[in-house]
Amino acid sequence: MEPSSKSEALNRTRANVIAKGYASGTDTYVERAQGALLCDVDGREYIDFAGGIAVMNVGHSHPKVVAAIQDQAAKFTHTCFMVLPYAPAIDLAERLCRLVPGDFDKAALFINSGAEAVENAVKVARYASGRQAIICFENAFHGRTLMGMSLTSKVKPYKFGFGPFAPEIYRMPFAYCYRCPFGNTYPGCDTACADYLESFLVSHVAPENTAAVIVEPIQGEGGFITPPPEYFPKLKRICDKHGILFIADEIQTGIGRTGTMFAMEHWGVAADITTVAKSLAAGMPLSAVVGRKDLMDSVHPSGVGGTYGANPLACRAALAVLEIFETEDLLKKSRELGEKLRQRFDQFQDEFEIVGEVRGIGPMLALELVEDRHTKTPAGEAAKKLVGFCREKGLIILACGGYGNVIRVLMPLVITDEQLEKGLTILADGLAALTD
Ligand SMILES: Cc1ncc(COP(=O)(O)O)c(C=O)c1O
Repeated sequence: MEPSSKSEALNRTRANVIAKGYASGTDTYVERAQGALLCDVDGREYIDFAGGIAVMNVGHSHPKVVAAIQDQAAKFTHTCFMVLPYAPAIDLAERLCRLVPGDFDKAALFINSGAEAVENAVKVARYASGRQAIICFENAFHGRTLMGMSLTSKVKPYKFGFGPFAPEIYRMPFAYCYRCPFGNTYPGCDTACADYLESFLVSHVAPENTAAVIVEPIQGEGGFITPPPEYFPKLKRICDKHGILFIADEIQTGIGRTGTMFAMEHWGVAADITTVAKSLAAGMPLSAVVGRKDLMDSVHPSGVGGTYGANPLACRAALAVLEIFETEDLLKKSRELGEKLRQRFDQFQDEFEIVGEVRGIGPMLALELVEDRHTKTPAGEAAKKLVGFCREKGLIILACGGYGNVIRVLMPLVITDEQLEKGLTILADGLAALTD
């Protein structure tokens, strides 16, 4: 039978040539995108509440990003920074060293993906400290490479069948107040989950062996789990006391996603090492490790790097992204968007029993869906249905969380009011349909 659409034709071919494990959430194929609008190969339009998983904070095909990439492509596309370096990488490193929280000298290195940034942050932390152990958290996601996967918490689909994992990784419970792993209630608990690091360093791994603690300021894939204000300052104090480095994985939370350039600013914590990727270069594959200069400089020449790291097109795109943040006051837009979303999401919680909690900071917001507000049974199936409903109606939105029951939004910060309204109406209709 003839395929009924271009997407269907592509899906048929795909089944023969793309590995099944390399799955997609939708079966439509994109042709072009602009701002917060996607258009598929069959001419259907979608509002984008996913942003390519937190990558398109400045919006799809921003003219300044397109111009920067085109200009650079006409000059040169690759020499390998390790062979013949170039100015855009230096300019970008200068900007990032200024922007990443921390009132100390910093240095940066560039690689290609989030997982690679995590790998390199761990390499630097181990090298500089001379220690091996890394402490990570329940619900964490740090990527799909061996180290990224080892640090990641969710077994299926990310780890299942892929062991053995990297050694010397120790996992602690996180500050998931809605489902406190210690059975406590905030604020009466006095963030005992952060103090727990002290006893963890007695019963699981010695501080003298621990190179670093790695955290996501807001756990992304894990369900937009957002710790209370005291949490990270406490963790950092304990780390400092024991000479343990603090790595902030800002891959999903960075570049304006939460209303500040980096999310750790909300907790007033300056990590020793920060990983940056996703929205840094508006879709060009680029990631960075930015950290204390003494740590970053400790590694011997060529101990870190890679053929494509600091790709010149990607660096130019990232410089354009940072310029857009300034010229279009995107941080202000981000905060305004966050307020609008919070207001609507709080209404959703009032209106729909299935919404157990609204959480996040700025426009990095999520709805945790539960079958029953008392038992808090995760409503993973409902979330899946909701994502499907939205797609049918022209809205791309993502679920996350250990049980897939958290609906998260990561739309471009440049989304228009009209697009936002249209998307939120679809989402509200979908929530209503779940309870019909
Ligand atoms: C916090 C965090 N760390 C690491 C990664 C891995 O990034 P990548 O998929 O670019 O390897 C992700 C991706 O979602 C992430 O959200």
